[in-house]
Amino acid sequence: MKAESQRIPTEKKNIRAMFNNIAKRYDFLNHFLSLGIDNYWRRRVIKILKGYQPKEILDVATGTGDLAIKLIKLKPNKIIGIDIAEEMLVIANEKIIKKKLNNIIDVFTADSENLPFNNMTFDAVTVAFGVRNFENLEKGINEMGRVLKSEGKAVILEFSMPTKFPIKQLYLFYFKFLLPLFGRIVSKNKFAYSYLPNSVTTFPQGKEFTKIMEQSGFINTKHIKLTFGIASIYIGEISKKNNNFANK
Ligand SMILES: C[S@@+](CC[C@H](N)C(=O)[O-])C[C@H]1O[C@@H](n2cnc3c(N)ncnc32)[C@H](O)[C@@H]1O
Repeated sequence: MKAESQRIPTEKKNIRAMFNNIAKRYDFLNHFLSLGIDNYWRRRVIKILKGYQPKEILDVATGTGDLAIKLIKLKPNKIIGIDIAEEMLVIANEKIIKKKLNNIIDVFTADSENLPFNNMTFDAVTVAFGVRNFENLEKGINEMGRVLKSEGKAVILEFSMPTKFPIKQLYLFYFKFLLPLFGRIVSKNKFAYSYLPNSVTTFPQGKEFTKIMEQSGFINTKHIKLTFGIASIYIGEISKKNNNFANK
């Protein structure tokens, strides 16, 4: 039997402090260290939601708002982005105002594990590179389900580990040695980019992740591998008849 991954406990206040600390350099580091692929991955999330035309969208752990801003392509009525790190949201807000999108996108501080919204509020919930940071993953996933309407969709983008030779070995070398080194130099934060590889290698992925979504009540779950499995998209739906989450 395959052993389940052991997750490193993530303390919310440390995570918040870390992202507040690197907020001003986050966008540059993100695009530089991922060689720009992160934007392609976010576009895949938009493509998945396109046929569904969600009108009210929640972007959890929105950070500097890159996914929230891209969600505009779906022509929704409202996009709400939440995050625990207010400095990340300051950057998000600057970008939103610059693009004159502040009538459609609102961002504010809130915790993904205790969302300040009524049951069944949104047509879609998205998260990009956020779930790995949740202190309590199951609680965060359950909250996403709770605020989704019947037939609502959750689309989660997260780093994962490639499994095939030689991509796995090359990736591990980049991820464990080069990325923490570059990250440390540019972010000036010792912890941030050594935390990233550790949190990815120990985080549940593939079937293990979709199982967590199903245990929370999501149906029709799906796992899509991106770029040799370096990232993954997880999709889950809320059933038509009843919303299991709202009744919990
Ligand atoms: C790697 S960043 C991703 C930001 C953005 N979604 C993107 O695609 O670039 C992770 C974000 O998750 C946020 N975060 C971590 N734990 C959270 C929680 N419990 N509730 C809300 N946001 C959280 C962090 O503050 C940080 O901004």
